Amino acid sequence: MLPKVLYTYGDRAGMHEGKVNVPRKPRIDIEQSGPLDGEATGMNFANLDGDHVLVGFIEDDTKQPYIDKFLPHPRADRGGDLAVADPPGRRLRPVEADGEVDLRKHRGSFWGIDDKGALVIDLTRAHAGEYDADGSEPAPAVVAPSPADPPFANVHGNIKADLPNQAVVRIRINTTTEVVLTQDKFNLRIDGGENLTLDLKDANAQLKLGNGEKHAAIVETLEALWGAAKSIFDAHIHPTGVGPSSTTPTPLPGWDAGINSTKVSFPDG
Ligand SMILES: [Fe+2]
Repeated sequence: MLPKVLYTYGDRAGMHEGKVNVPRKPRIDIEQSGPLDGEATGMNFANLDGDHVLVGFIEDDTKQPYIDKFLPHPRADRGGDLAVADPPGRRLRPVEADGEVDLRKHRGSFWGIDDKGALVIDLTRAHAGEYDADGSEPAPAVVAPSPADPPFANVHGNIKADLPNQAVVRIRINTTTEVVLTQDKFNLRIDGGENLTLDLKDANAQLKLGNGEKHAAIVETLEALWGAAKSIFDAHIHPTGVGPSSTTPTPLPGWDAGINSTKVSFPDG
């Protein structure tokens, strides 16, 4: 039993490049059970569900083994309910109907290219590596949303993409429709046009829809104008032959607060 062994990281391993992962250990500790302890324990290889490894020896010295390659153990193939209807990736073992997929899986999440050439990133069953007693992958945990910062602290299957200064995120369809996010701007363009632009920040933040030819009213300013006009109208009187009239018996209605949107807001000006 070797508590520590060298491992070459996947197909490629170099000083700065290569796959970053480790083989999965079996759930059964073979040191804690004898070789004939029964079906469920011991050295029964059918029950050792860790990844299969190909071991080499440095300088042919059996005291210097290293793990050259590994294959996921078929018993680890318990992502969904093992139904063929599950997508490949949730199952490790492809079936003929899956075609020629190229996926990679780790802790319930899988990603790669499917048979139709689509990039697949499926994190719906992401977990922290704590498997059920029968070796099945755990069902997705139901975790209440948390405002914690960072928000990644207590849930699995998040997407983190931390990019350097001046990086650009672009998703483009047919060269004319694209979503572009830069450090200080967000653009949505559909069919070669300008559809949505978010620019600047705080009191200077700008939202431009389409070509932005017309402007939205600032309702607070309009409300103040309405209030001023109402007070003038309601108070005005007319000179008559017998002295000034009374104020109007039909004053203007007050401002309807329902005009003020509670769902859309933007800076003043
Ligand atoms: Fe009047």
